[in-house]
Amino acid sequence: MSSPFRDNLLSGKTAFITGGGSGICQRIAERYAAMGANVMINGRKQEKLDTAAAIIAGRGGSVATHAADVRDYAAIESGLVRCCEMFGLIDILVCGAAGNFPAPVTGMSANGFKAVIDIDLLGTFNTCRAAFDHLRKPGASIIAISANHASQAYGWQSHVCAAKAGVERLTQCLALEWGPMGIRANLINPGPIDETEGMSRLAPTPEARRAVVENVPLRRMGRKDDIADMALFLVSDAASYVNGAVMVCDGGQILTGARTLSSAGLGQ
Ligand code: COA
Repeated sequence: MSSPFRDNLLSGKTAFITGGGSGICQRIAERYAAMGANVMINGRKQEKLDTAAAIIAGRGGSVATHAADVRDYAAIESGLVRCCEMFGLIDILVCGAAGNFPAPVTGMSANGFKAVIDIDLLGTFNTCRAAFDHLRKPGASIIAISANHASQAYGWQSHVCAAKAGVERLTQCLALEWGPMGIRANLINPGPIDETEGMSRLAPTPEARRAVVENVPLRRMGRKDDIADMALFLVSDAASYVNGAVMVCDGGQILTGARTLSSAGLGQ
């Protein structure tokens, strides 16, 4: 894990990261901790959080865990309160908890659609709303992990497209409403990122992976570090005038108009 940023960039800062027990957000948590932040990682499963926390602590990072479902307002709020008690006001809030499965509209129940809307969109609202009283003002920075699904349609991804479109607009409303208090809110749209649960669900076979990569101008999957670097930039002073922005980190995939699942032979 290498980084172009200096090691003490986030010294003494507090970060709360939903979805921090695995994948992209685990790598973001690792990066923030390596840069000196105290991090609390949230996810649904304590065992996954413990494994991720052990990696961070093993490298000398300051880390705590909070198991809670972002769909449960009181549960996520209690984590934010505990984080603040342990480490002080929250400087960095990353809303990364997300759900996904490939299914056409006719292959999904109302409850399946709702599950993803609730995790992604309501979960982002719950986390930000519950964090408000505990955010440093001025100075706090919010990052929501979205996707290019927010701005273009993908086959077999109607639930995710609808959820991410909502996440994008919600985050920009926060940028507008909370900007005057010195809180910035931005989005990261990761492209296909290797070694994540998302990609293992969406491109489960070598053929599907090849089809995805062929639609990326840089001809490779993204790395979790690519997203961690973007997440570090956004919370640094180098981004102090960046607010309400959608930071696309996808190797240029969106330029090809790729509808990932269709290209991979999974979609319609
Ligand atoms: N196709 C169609 N429907 C599906 C499905 C699939 N592949 N997987 C789940 N569902 C439906 C279920 O059938 C259920 O609907 P029902 O009650 O009408 O039968 C509904 O989705 C909720 O499923 P459940 O497993 O009870 O929900 P959950 O809250 O435990 O899980 C999910 C949420 C469905 C999003 C699950 O995929 C998940 O936990 N994902 C988290 C990890 C993840 O997706 N990471 C990648 C992020 S990019």
